Amino acid sequence: MIKIGLIGAGTVGSGVVHIYNNNLEKLKDFAKDDFEIKTVCDLDFSKATADLGKINKSSNWRDLIADTEIKIIVELIGGEEPARTMIATALENKKNVVTANKMVLAKHGKELLEIANKNNVHLLYEAAVGGAIPIIKPLKTTLVPNKIKGIVGIVNGTTNYILTKMTEKEAKYADVLKEAQKLGYAEADPTSDVGGFDSMYKLAVLSQVAFGADVDYKDILVEGITDVSQNDIAYAREMGLIIKLLAIARYENEELELRVHPVALDKNHPLATVNGVYNAIYVEGDAVGDVMFSGRGAGSIPTASSVWADILDIINETPYFTEKLKKIKIKDIAEVQSEYYFRFRLKDKPGVLADISGIFARNNISIKNARQEGLGEDAELVIVSHIVSEKAKNKAIEEIAKLDSVKKVSSIIRVGI
Ligand code: HSE
Repeated sequence: MIKIGLIGAGTVGSGVVHIYNNNLEKLKDFAKDDFEIKTVCDLDFSKATADLGKINKSSNWRDLIADTEIKIIVELIGGEEPARTMIATALENKKNVVTANKMVLAKHGKELLEIANKNNVHLLYEAAVGGAIPIIKPLKTTLVPNKIKGIVGIVNGTTNYILTKMTEKEAKYADVLKEAQKLGYAEADPTSDVGGFDSMYKLAVLSQVAFGADVDYKDILVEGITDVSQNDIAYAREMGLIIKLLAIARYENEELELRVHPVALDKNHPLATVNGVYNAIYVEGDAVGDVMFSGRGAGSIPTASSVWADILDIINETPYFTEKLKKIKIKDIAEVQSEYYFRFRLKDKPGVLADISGIFARNNISIKNARQEGLGEDAELVIVSHIVSEKAKNKAIEEIAKLDSVKKVSSIIRVGI
């Protein structure tokens, strides 16, 4: 009998118990050994939404790790500490660990995987990226014959929900954020989601698995959605574009390009049609070409399904490719190229357009299209450029921002991928 210790009885922990209570027969049919959840640990069980039945309760995680019967520790408390210490201690005590903790994996993945290897146990984390979507295991099994060339994904449900509602309902960012908080999608402090940091951690984890890269998450360019306004969504729509927050990793010429930022995508791009809290991840392999994974990127029971998949793999001793992380050169962000959408607030007076287009021309930035709208004394100017480097874009914007006639550089959004 394999015994499991569950740390965290909150959102995902409750989902794990819910699946255990409801699908136990199916789980047992697929497990080569019998198993049970022996103990669940939390400091406050009032958040638990599943019936804990006969499972023991503890408020001290060290008791679960000291329990010689427990062979699998499932860490679902989130955050960096004490989760990192729990995972490291469990692995050092030769317990297998299943976690959904993208922050710990992004910051300490290499060290923790080394501890797991040294102690001949597993550290599995399907639930850390894309909630219910199988993505980590396919990268570590079915897609192993490929050199991965790129990954592009919508990996945050909260921001995708906000951008979808802003697009469909023509609602303002602040109003949709409030609604998302009321529905429990966005946290009271939404910074990690809307600032792009949740996607950043997930991209770091995906890069570890897909490229074997020991990524320093601080090397990832991160821009969130807080500056995306209803005006941008509306102008983009007129141009046949839909704005999404994307996580992008590309491996080319032995350099890894890593970025998280809003992108105005052609409305017919498959990622442009992924809406609400759904996530989708494109993987490009040199053998398979493109494969896309999509599904519910967050939520108690969907995410818990991925946790159980890992638990079953440990029980069944499923053979896995083991990550050996190495340093890979990260592409200098200044050299990254993109088309851009710019929105400026201007004083409506003669010559402004000429000043701005002159600066674009001097920085060798070619304009694809432009439109200007009078707003009383002011005007709003929207320009879409052809492909330009980050460096040239930054230089042009610095000059434009200094013009007397420019009141505000309101938005800068990359176009296409
Ligand atoms: N807050 C995340 C999201 C879910 O909105 O996608 C957990 O990673």
